Amino acid sequence: MDGYAVVAEGLEKRYGDKHALAGFDLAVQQGSVHGLLGPNGAGKTTAVRVLATLLRFDGGRARVAGVDVRCEPRQVRRRIGLTGQYAAVDEVLTGRQNLEMFGRLFHLGGRRAVRRATELLEQFDLVGAGDKGVGTYSGGMRRRLDLAASMILAPDVLFLDEPTTGLDPRSRGEVWEAVRRLVAGGTTVLLTTQYLEEADRLASRITVIDQGRAIADDTPDGLKDRVGGDRIEVVARDAADLPAVAKAVARVADTDPTTDALERRVHAPVTDRVAALTDVARTLQEERIGVEDIGLRRPSLDDVFLRLTGHGTQTTEEAA
Ligand SMILES: Nc1ncnc2c1ncn2[C@@H]1O[C@H](COP(=O)(O)OP(=O)(O)O)[C@@H](O)[C@H]1O
Ligand SMILES: [Mg+2]
Repeated sequence: MDGYAVVAEGLEKRYGDKHALAGFDLAVQQGSVHGLLGPNGAGKTTAVRVLATLLRFDGGRARVAGVDVRCEPRQVRRRIGLTGQYAAVDEVLTGRQNLEMFGRLFHLGGRRAVRRATELLEQFDLVGAGDKGVGTYSGGMRRRLDLAASMILAPDVLFLDEPTTGLDPRSRGEVWEAVRRLVAGGTTVLLTTQYLEEADRLASRITVIDQGRAIADDTPDGLKDRVGGDRIEVVARDAADLPAVAKAVARVADTDPTTDALERRVHAPVTDRVAALTDVARTLQEERIGVEDIGLRRPSLDDVFLRLTGHGTQTTEEAA
């Protein structure tokens, strides 16, 4: 498989009688960001740890940066980086001191370690914070320092396991920016996430994983097309108004609106998002229909799962 930085075929990993990976396939194009999208318990971390040689597997084959994971794990380790590996970032040291320390741990030699730390602080937009204690960093700065630490040796392939889970939107944006810059520099990134939006923003291809198996492999647009794109949603104040709301929504929607009487909610897919929203809001106001909530909703991981598996992500977790 030329041109692929990561190839996995039929990977199996069992914990007792639990199949964490149950014939998992993956192909990651060199120089790309590839999203591995799935809910809690789907097998993302297991897949990453197997590919990063941190976990033995029970079946199948994998190559990373052209090297067989089972036969030559040490060669693989030289070519990869992994976030989470450096959770040992020292709170008392500054960002710069941490990076210099990792550089020396990787036998860069004092002067090269110092130079590499400076480069990485620039690359990850941490120049201003470089000489402050890591204990004072925001969540986003902390994750960017983790990223920088995993890039000390400029690996060919970088595994990012849920790099933005638990971050606020602003910090999340900062991490996305850092990932984009990395890839511009030629690194291949395999990024696991529970957010469709994150995979959509960063990845050129997305594999959806459910119960240890790839259930879809597509471009972000292809995946969103299957799910149905953006939706407009209106929650009426009064259930008696639902037919009128549905009529207003139908004017701008791509297909017939769905009415959820219990939640007094009408929703439908739309293409021209903002125009649709403005139009519906104006109509409802003109007709003096009380609205509790109105907005645009992007498809979520839950929508993807509903479409691909017929059940939402919660059911998956319960089944796991
Ligand atoms: N060390 C372990 N022992 C037993 N079961 C595990 C272990 N690690 C993960 N699992 C199980 O394997 C499945 C996949 O887990 P994981 O790879 O962590 O999923 P994800 O990262 O997508 O949340 C889950 O059902 C999880 O409970
Ligand atoms: Mg995980």
